[in-house]
Amino acid sequence: MISGNGSNMLSLLEELKNEPLINFALIISNNPLSPGLKKAHQLGYNCKVLEPNNNKKNFENCLQILLVKERIQLICMAGFMQILSSSFTRNWKKRILNIHPSLLPKFKGLNTHSRVLASGDKIHGCTVHYVNEQLDGGEILDQARVKITKDDTSTTLSNKVLIEEHKLYFKVVRGLITKENQFLTNSSF
Ligand code: GRF
Repeated sequence: MISGNGSNMLSLLEELKNEPLINFALIISNNPLSPGLKKAHQLGYNCKVLEPNNNKKNFENCLQILLVKERIQLICMAGFMQILSSSFTRNWKKRILNIHPSLLPKFKGLNTHSRVLASGDKIHGCTVHYVNEQLDGGEILDQARVKITKDDTSTTLSNKVLIEEHKLYFKVVRGLITKENQFLTNSSF
């Protein structure tokens, strides 16, 4: 699930396209103008736009129907800029992953790179975690670190972290899928 550029999505698609246990069933964007959506479409993936239209409940009902119809077993949020309600995330416990550009639990929410620079921290990074009802609050699965140098700006830091995000996300997804085949054997859908 994406909202923007979709570079994490593209990296997942590329790195995992030959994994025998993985079939990318659906790319969902909540933004019809998302550049990532255009790229996924050009690559021939099944894409859907689902806009919230200020009605979160309706959005999540439609999302639920779509995910069940497509027999989705794992949801990867990759730059998906929308908070899901607890009733939705409870239905998908340990089935939704998110990537966040900070070393959680530090710097939840937006603008992580400028906030970490202002904090004086010397190490920054990214986190893949399960999604629960709390913002960026679910169980942490793995993290990658980058050093902050004195010349870093939020742009250079963002670029450095994004490179690590791309490596981290597919590593975590591959690990989860292959670990005891859990998404195939434990799925309730
Ligand atoms: C990434 O930094 C991701 O961690 C954050 O939003 C950015 C999305 O980048 N949630 P992209 O759309 O994957 O290029």
